[in-house]
Amino acid sequence: MKDFKVYDSEHHTIYHGDAIKTLGVLPRESVDLIFADPPYNIGKKYANFVDKWPSDEDYIEWCKKWLDACIALLKPHGSLYVMASTQSMPFLDIYLRSRLTILSRIIWRYDSSGVQAQNYFGSMYEPILHCVKDAKNYVFNADVIMVEAKTGAQRKLIDYRKKVPAVYNSRKVPGNVWYFPRVRYRMAEYEEHPTQKPEVLLERIVAASSNEDDLVLDPFAGTFTTCAVAKKMKRRSIGIELQEDYVKIGLRRLGILSHYNGEKLCPPEKSYVRKNGKPQIPSNQLTLLERNE
Ligand SMILES: C[S@@+](CC[C@H](N)C(=O)[O-])C[C@H]1O[C@@H](n2cnc3c(N)ncnc32)[C@H](O)[C@@H]1O
Repeated sequence: MKDFKVYDSEHHTIYHGDAIKTLGVLPRESVDLIFADPPYNIGKKYANFVDKWPSDEDYIEWCKKWLDACIALLKPHGSLYVMASTQSMPFLDIYLRSRLTILSRIIWRYDSSGVQAQNYFGSMYEPILHCVKDAKNYVFNADVIMVEAKTGAQRKLIDYRKKVPAVYNSRKVPGNVWYFPRVRYRMAEYEEHPTQKPEVLLERIVAASSNEDDLVLDPFAGTFTTCAVAKKMKRRSIGIELQEDYVKIGLRRLGILSHYNGEKLCPPEKSYVRKNGKPQIPSNQLTLLERNE
């Protein structure tokens, strides 16, 4: 008996099952880009699964298993992005250094809401490692991820250190500190999941490290953000997820099924009515500042 269920459309496949078991049956060296955002071992509840291992050692051993499986699936010129908690990342970093080249240690910095830590410096970022198999030959589409270069260019300064003085570049490849707001209830992309990643974060990764028709894999798909972005950007995708509730989100987001066991798959119903009775402004009409509140 198979350990997982498969749902697919022409270019997108969803596996409902355990990541390690599923990764083990996929063809070796077949994937161009992997984005892995596993449970962080911090006690979050993902539907029927609680993200807590008996010890840090157990968690790291588990991570090494799926990392090995991911590395086996990656093409020789492929890229692997890994997210983890700030506490676990040093262990994964040391392990991955022995198997791949780590090109960048990225910080995803985000806005914070709700109660802040009072007795220590609260966490305002999540680390991401960008690794490649071959440091001399990998995909990096610098031209499509350029951002505005603020210093110099905005002030229209001239760089007199150059042989022929010239204005500063107005565009640059982003550095390794990325600011993107977290997914909020009022945003159109919001799904019911505790750690949904924003599409803009994945858009930068998919644009930089893959090309059209490439195969993108997410072994811990959650709300299937990676696969939805891959679809939007004309890539193929594979998403693996253990929890049925989230598989249903993926089936809907990727347009694979409209019904699941007779249930119509619908986006989350949202109420825009405030408790004081005033309607809220839809997110696309908010200023950037308000959206990041
Ligand atoms: C951090 S979340 C991923 C969120 C995702 N990046 C998104 O944007 O929605 C981790 C996901 O891994 C799933 N998960 C936990 N254990 C798993 C396993 N052994 N195999 C596959 N998925 C698993 C959880 O249900 C959860 O949805």
